[in-house]
Amino acid sequence: MKLLTNISTLYRVPPDAAHDEVDAVSDATVAWEDDTIRYAGPTAELPAEFSQAETFDADGRCVVPGLIDCHTHLCFGGWRGDEFAARLEGKTYQEIQAAGGGINSTVRATRQADREALRLKASEALADMARLGVTTVEAKSGYGLDRDNEIKQLEVYLQLQSEQPLEIVPTFLGAHLVPTEYRDRRDDYLQLLCDKLIPEIAERKLARFCDVFIESNAFTLAEGRRILETARDHGLGLKIHADQLSSGGGAGLAADLGAVSAEHLEYASDEDIRAMARAGTVAVSLPIASLYLREPYLPARQWIEAGVRVAVATDFNPGSAPSYHLHLAMTLAAVHQRMSPAEVLRGVTTHAARAIGLETSHGSLMPGYRADLAIIDAPDINHWLYHFRPNACLRTLKSGRWLQVLR
Ligand code: NIG
Ligand code: FE
Repeated sequence: MKLLTNISTLYRVPPDAAHDEVDAVSDATVAWEDDTIRYAGPTAELPAEFSQAETFDADGRCVVPGLIDCHTHLCFGGWRGDEFAARLEGKTYQEIQAAGGGINSTVRATRQADREALRLKASEALADMARLGVTTVEAKSGYGLDRDNEIKQLEVYLQLQSEQPLEIVPTFLGAHLVPTEYRDRRDDYLQLLCDKLIPEIAERKLARFCDVFIESNAFTLAEGRRILETARDHGLGLKIHADQLSSGGGAGLAADLGAVSAEHLEYASDEDIRAMARAGTVAVSLPIASLYLREPYLPARQWIEAGVRVAVATDFNPGSAPSYHLHLAMTLAAVHQRMSPAEVLRGVTTHAARAIGLETSHGSLMPGYRADLAIIDAPDINHWLYHFRPNACLRTLKSGRWLQVLR
């Protein structure tokens, strides 16, 4: 048994409460055994049986559940700073992609990169994320777009899972774009995805989810439905990059298929918002992508009022969101999406856990949940989101173990 005491404010963030209810407890203690929380509540009420334990001091700081980045494209070759500069001069994301850049350029760099280089680059990002208080990361493929290179990315995730402490939830995004060599025979690429890749990846358990980018220059609604129905038949959970750059009905498809989440969603229709609320599909907002592409931010108030759970993630990738700084996404979600600090905290804990199918074990500091937490150098979450700085996280606990967090 281990204890963390002297917590000024403990945010328990129970899984089934209102959007802005984070259950803040003053003068609190957390007890855990191995990788599981045993007690989280007022120090005065700590059961006597838990008091004889190795004790750590939170030094009067606040404590939140380990943060969950539920949408990243973690493994990729190269960067695209040249496109960033071109966009600043007025080129659009779609124009750059149509000219052979964008996702295509990262596909070329990822195909060329060897596994070790990809592993090293992703592991450096994970180490930084851990220092920021992140304990679980969803990670997509989607820059290979052929059998060997998609599997190369997913195997990098498998290897990273075995050698570093953060949990990685892998998602197959072979339907990120039709690769250039299939441009004139799209159907052959769909066949490759549905007949070969999805069955193999599901069989080898290389991914838990399948994602599709539904957009005018990526995949159509009908193609998305076909790919996701195949994935569902093979036991994969479903996600959709939907309505990011235009209104394409992706959010409605996510609701219709019972997808666990739909992401971006800035252009989703009112009708599709209602459909997602009825289906219980999580809306994953990605404000760093809105920042970099100068696109609208998710009107989160409308979504929350419609009864949709809104998660917040980084979308870390070399094009639209070249940062894994979850705190930046959180502050943007507060300022531009008009989410309260409590809603934002839910967005990176319980709602993010739900977006990756982990809501019964991750994202809350309740007995039985995973012992994942972050000590934040702020008196409360208002101050944390307001005073943006390089890193407000003092220490991260993952599965009951302190990570060697340097500041
Ligand atoms: O989530 N929208 C599609 N995919 C990524 C961007 C990928 C890239 O630009 O490399 C996104 O924004
Ligand atoms: Fe994305």
